[in-house]
Amino acid sequence: MIAAQNQPPLSGTRPEGARDEREAAARVQDMFARIAPRYDFLNHLLSFSLDRVWRRRTAKTFGHILRRPDARILDLCCGTGDLTFSLERLRTSPRAPVIGSDFVEGMLVRAREKAKNGRYAAVFAAADALHLPFPDTSFDLITTAFGFRNLANYEDGLREFARVLKPGGELGILEFSEPTSGPLAGFFRFYFRQILPSIGKTISGDAEAYAYLPGSITKFPSPSGLTALMGKAGFADVRIASWNFGTVLLHSARRT
Ligand SMILES: C[S@@+](CC[C@H](N)C(=O)[O-])C[C@H]1O[C@@H](n2cnc3c(N)ncnc32)[C@H](O)[C@@H]1O
Repeated sequence: MIAAQNQPPLSGTRPEGARDEREAAARVQDMFARIAPRYDFLNHLLSFSLDRVWRRRTAKTFGHILRRPDARILDLCCGTGDLTFSLERLRTSPRAPVIGSDFVEGMLVRAREKAKNGRYAAVFAAADALHLPFPDTSFDLITTAFGFRNLANYEDGLREFARVLKPGGELGILEFSEPTSGPLAGFFRFYFRQILPSIGKTISGDAEAYAYLPGSITKFPSPSGLTALMGKAGFADVRIASWNFGTVLLHSARRT
């Protein structure tokens, strides 16, 4: 069970200097485009490769949907496709490939290369998660790993996910969280705020992008805040799985 944290409500991410949602989205898009070439390497390095475990666990959580041949699956903010591939690996006799989508072409180029090399059936499409190019009630499952935090408006995002999900369809949001209490809270705060930005900056050469990461985690809604937003957008049965000492949370829910 996750403790509620007192936090001011926040409509969405605001990278330093962004005055409105349009500027916030443009800054996020630009940052991820810049770090795309080193993204996988840094991800695995900064998480000690645990990111692979978290994505595999996320996919397993939705095994009951992935095993249905007729299920339609969308992985949003897919980056270079690692969660998309974890989902694809659990599919049995699928009638349609998993779709991965992102609004940074440099990420999608890498995802397509990896799909080709790994012989994955997944397809990748450019799309803004806040304005999805899919008809209503298209999907049985929507997932997003470490992407939701970057949306310029969380409520609009959840409403858009609810629109393209079928009634009874499920949503999984995998995100970082900064623990505020417990014996390791101080260590993780130091790691997120000091060590991670400094390694990220040294290897990627991009100080802004890796300083943005800890800030965006701190400002992200608490589990109770996100659960309330999900309820407002038309989701029920919100469950929260907490991994890695509470630093990684999977919120899953059913569209009513
Ligand atoms: C931290 S990366 C996560 C990538 C991947 N899901 C993973 O697990 O490694 C966040 C991704 O979200 C994408 N993103 C952020 N905001 C988006 C939006 N509004 N629409 C589509 N993609 C978005 C970024 O381009 C980036 O590739």
